[in-house]
Amino acid sequence: MHADLSPVDKAKYAAARRAVEFVEKGMRVGLGTGSTAAFMVRSLGERVREEGLNILAVPTSEATARLARAEGIEVVTLEQARWLDLTIDGTDEFDPELNLIKGGGGAHLREKIVATASDQMIVIADSGKEVAQLGAFPLPVEVVRFGWQASKALIEELLVSLDVLGREVRLRMRGDTPFVSDEGNYILDLHLGRIGTPRRMALVLNQVPGVVENGLFIDVCDRVVVGYGDGRVEVRDIDAGTVEDSRVIFDESPNAFADLSD
Ligand code: 5RP
Repeated sequence: MHADLSPVDKAKYAAARRAVEFVEKGMRVGLGTGSTAAFMVRSLGERVREEGLNILAVPTSEATARLARAEGIEVVTLEQARWLDLTIDGTDEFDPELNLIKGGGGAHLREKIVATASDQMIVIADSGKEVAQLGAFPLPVEVVRFGWQASKALIEELLVSLDVLGREVRLRMRGDTPFVSDEGNYILDLHLGRIGTPRRMALVLNQVPGVVENGLFIDVCDRVVVGYGDGRVEVRDIDAGTVEDSRVIFDESPNAFADLSD
C-alpha cells in the first residue's frame, strides 16, 4: 500500500499511523491540517470503518472537514463538542521543548483554538521538522484584511527590538491574489531566520492591531510523534521526559495513499 511513497511521505505516514493509536472510543478529537494530518485522517478513517471506533471530530480547516467526512468520520463543530480529549496535528517546525511554528497551510488560527481547547495535543512530524531553534521556517501571522499594510508596518517596526536574524515580512499570495484563510483573513509570512525569544515574540505579535493570531505554539504540544522514512517512530513526551521507539510496517500492495503523496 505504501511502496510508492517518497521517504518523507513514509515518515509522515509512520508518524500518523502511530499517533492514531492514541485515539480511544468515545473521544472528541481535533483534526489538524496539512499533508501529515491528511495521512492521520486517512488512518483514523480506517479505524472508524474497520474497528467501529466511535469518535466525534472537530476539523481545523474546510479541507480537513471534507477529507474526514469522506473517510466516514463524524464531524461536529467545536461549539457542539465544547471541549476535546485530544488534538493531532502536523507542524512546520518543532524545537527541543516542543514549541512549534505552524501555519504553513494557513490554518494556524483554527489549529491553535482547537489545540488549546483540548486536554492533549499530539504533533506528528517527519524528522526533517526538528530544529534546535525555531525560525528558519517563515512565521505565519494572520491579519484582518482591513488596514493590513498598517499591521505589516507595525510588525516590521516591532521586529527591530526582537532577537531575530531577518526582518522581511511578505503578504502570502496564491497565484496573483492574496491567500485568504478559512476565516477570511490575510497571512503575513515573517522571514526571521532565527527566533531568539519565541515566547516573547508570540506575545508581542498578538498586541499589534489587526493581528488575529501568530503561528507560534508555545507550551501547547504535549507529545511529538516523529516518523522516519524506514518506518521507525519515536514518541517523545515533554512532561514525562520519555522517548518510546516503535516501527510501522509498510504494506507493499497497490498504493491507497498515493493521492496524498508530494
Ligand atoms: C497548517 C499547518 C500544518 O500542520 C503544517 O504546515 C505542516 O504541514 P505538512 O504536514 O503538510 O508539512 O500548520 O496550517
